[in-house]
Amino acid sequence: MAGKKIMLTGDRPSGRLHIGHYVGSLAQRLELQDDPDFEKVFVMLADAQALTDNFDDPEKVRESVFQVAIDYLSVGLDPAKTNMFIQSEVPQLHELTVYYMNLVTVARAQRNPTIKTEIQLRGFGESVPMGFLNYPISQASDITFCKATTVPVGEDQEPLLEQCREIVRRFNYIYGEDVLIEPEIYLSKKEVCRRLPGTDGQAKMSKSLGNTIYLSDSEEELKTKVMSMYTDPGHLRVEDPGKVEGNTVFTYLECFCKDEDFEKYLPEYKNLEEMKDHYRRGGLGDVKCKKFLFNVLNDFLTPIRERRAYYEAHPEEVVEVLIQGTKEARKAAEETLAEVKKAMRIDYFKQWNTQYGTENVDSYC
Ligand code: TRP
Repeated sequence: MAGKKIMLTGDRPSGRLHIGHYVGSLAQRLELQDDPDFEKVFVMLADAQALTDNFDDPEKVRESVFQVAIDYLSVGLDPAKTNMFIQSEVPQLHELTVYYMNLVTVARAQRNPTIKTEIQLRGFGESVPMGFLNYPISQASDITFCKATTVPVGEDQEPLLEQCREIVRRFNYIYGEDVLIEPEIYLSKKEVCRRLPGTDGQAKMSKSLGNTIYLSDSEEELKTKVMSMYTDPGHLRVEDPGKVEGNTVFTYLECFCKDEDFEKYLPEYKNLEEMKDHYRRGGLGDVKCKKFLFNVLNDFLTPIRERRAYYEAHPEEVVEVLIQGTKEARKAAEETLAEVKKAMRIDYFKQWNTQYGTENVDSYC
C-alpha cells in the first residue's frame, strides 16, 4: 500500500547531467520511486531558477530542458511512478513565492551560504540579480507546493532546505495553521558519493572546469576522459607505493564498481579492498586501474546510452511525459495554493460566496 511520504527534487537545466549528478541525486530518486512509503514522486526541471543566472542565454536553458528530460528517462526515472515537470509551466509556484518573500529578510537572504558561494563563483560582485538572490525563496515554493517530505539532493543544497524549513515554520506560525510541511534532505548513504570530484581531482565536477563525465558521453569520450584522470601524483613508477585517498580513480571505483566487475574484468582481486591494498603496497599501475574503471563506467553507461538513443528518436514521447507530469504538478500546486490563500485570509471570492451566497463566483475560484 502507498505510504504518506512525498518526494520532490529538481535540477537547473543549464547543461546535461553527469555521473556526479547520478551518484549524488539521481540514484536516490530511482530508489525512492520504487519505495512503497512514497505516495507521490516529483522531479522538476527548474528552468525559472536556471534563468536567474542564465537570463541572457535562454536558448541554452531551453535546449537543456529537453536534454535533462532525456537524461531522466535514460537513467530509468519511470513516468508511471515519477512526475517529471517544467517549473515555469506551474504558475502557482510563482504565486507562492510572492507570499513567501514577506517571510524572509533581505539580510537573511544575503547570508545564505550557498548563495554566497555561488555569487562569488559567478563573479556577480555588487550586481547580483534580484531573481538570483531570491531563488532560495522560490525553491521553497518548489518544495512546498506538493508538501514534499523528502528532498534527494547533494549536500551543497542543505542551506536551501534550511531556508525552506524556516519559511514553513514562519508561515505556519503566523497564519495559524499547519498548512505547510517541513522537508528533510535525503543524501546518498555512501559519503564519498555525495560530492564526486572532477576527473582532474578538483572538488566539484563542472562544465566550466571541463572535468565532467556526462551520462551522454560516447564510449570514445569516456575512454579519453578516464585515461587522462588525476590519480596519485607521487605514484610515478608501477613499483612505487600509491595513495588511494584523494585518488580520483579510486573514488570513482568506490561509487561505481561492484564485486561482479572484478570477476569480469580483474579476476586477480575479489573486491575493491584487495585492489586498494595492492595499490598501496606498490606494483599496481595507474593504466591498469584506469582500464578497469573505464570498463566499469562503460557497463554502467551502456544501457543509459541505449535508452537515450531511443528517446532521441522519439522526442514526442518525451514531450508527452512532461505534459502529464506538469498536469499532476499543477493539480497539487492548485490545492496547496488554495490552502495557503485560505490561511492568509485572501481567498476572497470563495469566502464571500459562503458568506453572502454570491452568484457566479464559481468561475473565479
Ligand atoms: N537548486 C537545485 C540545484 O541547483 C535545483 C532545484 C530547484 C531544486 N528547485 C529545487 C532541488 C527544489 C530540490 C528541490 O541543483
